[in-house]
Amino acid sequence: MAVPLDADAQQARYWNSDVTAPWVTLQDRLDALFGRFSDAALAAAKPQPGERVIDVGCGCGATTLDLARAVGGAGHVQGVDISGPMLAHAQGRAVCWDQM
Ligand SMILES: C[S@@+](CC[C@H](N)C(=O)[O-])C[C@H]1O[C@@H](n2cnc3c(N)ncnc32)[C@H](O)[C@@H]1O
Repeated sequence: MAVPLDADAQQARYWNSDVTAPWVTLQDRLDALFGRFSDAALAAAKPQPGERVIDVGCGCGATTLDLARAVGGAGHVQGVDISGPMLAHAQGRAVCWDQM
């Protein structure tokens, strides 16, 4: 399948535009809405304590934090996303979680 060369640029523009602001402002409600899909993905991936994981398209970080709980302190999870606002929100949640 051919992917247009500017596909990433289009996605970057889209996911950094105001259109995606609700992903941040409604993060808790969206996490609840999509939770069953995230749970199914995690059940299939079966992350184990001590593993190193990359979460591509981590958005506001719900799956990243779930993965961090699964791999524990001996593991490592790297969230990656093209959206600056969503990644900033995820980083804030990760800092709060890390301080608990
Ligand atoms: C539908 S959202 C899902 C976010 C998150 N995984 C969740 O379940 O809440 C899709 C995510 O993919 C990200 N994304 C799109 N294209 C990307 C790319 N080329 N590289 C990294 N992230 C990308 C978007 O910024 C957005 O956060």
